[in-house]
Amino acid sequence: MKQNELVIAIDGPAASGKSTTAKLVASRLGYTYIDTGAMYRAVTLVALGAGIDPSDQKGVEEVASHLSISFRRADDGSLRTFVDDEDVSIAIRDPDVTASVSMVSSWSGVREAMFKLQREMSRKGGVVMDGRDIGTVVFPDADLKIFMVADIATRAKRRKNDLVELGTKQSVERVAQDLERRDQFDSNRGVSPLRKAADAVEIDTSGLSIEEQVERVLEMVKKSQRVEGSRS
Ligand code: DC
Repeated sequence: MKQNELVIAIDGPAASGKSTTAKLVASRLGYTYIDTGAMYRAVTLVALGAGIDPSDQKGVEEVASHLSISFRRADDGSLRTFVDDEDVSIAIRDPDVTASVSMVSSWSGVREAMFKLQREMSRKGGVVMDGRDIGTVVFPDADLKIFMVADIATRAKRRKNDLVELGTKQSVERVAQDLERRDQFDSNRGVSPLRKAADAVEIDTSGLSIEEQVERVLEMVKKSQRVEGSRS
């Protein structure tokens, strides 16, 4: 790992601003961005496509253990999610996938398979990874841990806009209900629940612009690099 190339963990509930921030922070730092939610979504997409019910633990775990997931950069610079050689970036945002992903990601065998891939993808450091359990389970020793939150009205508005861009229209009330249901499930599952790590710094993005969110994180990165630098 190059000196001062950190592992940055960003966790938090759905639509709290994690992935937008993580993507931009990674690009400013020249780091790799890893969207772990997209990985659980990819498992869900493939399981549903194979006719496996999300509640069928063994069936879903079998799918997860054989899946080849990767992130590749497209010609326009956007980061795309692939299963084998298929670009699934749009398909994994489908409402059917969103409705089943919490159940799929709650199975221990699914988490173990994704954990292995996540560790492998981050081997070289210089990584910004976002998810639910990055600071608590995947990288308990991450150099910087951030826990992003935002009020439900802000999150529902953001997610509604994301869905419009993907061609799906839903009322803000429906989106808010779905977000709360998913957060509830993700926070109360037995394995790797959504939780703020004791040493994570919380950022409430409700009143912040994207640029402000990114700046806050970059400030923290600078501080962490100074600490790392003084240790080496
Ligand atoms: O970030 P997202 O909304 O795309 O994540 C989709 C689901 O995946 C989320 O509801 C819970 C699960 N997930 C998880 O269990 N652990 C992670 N590290 C990331 C996502």
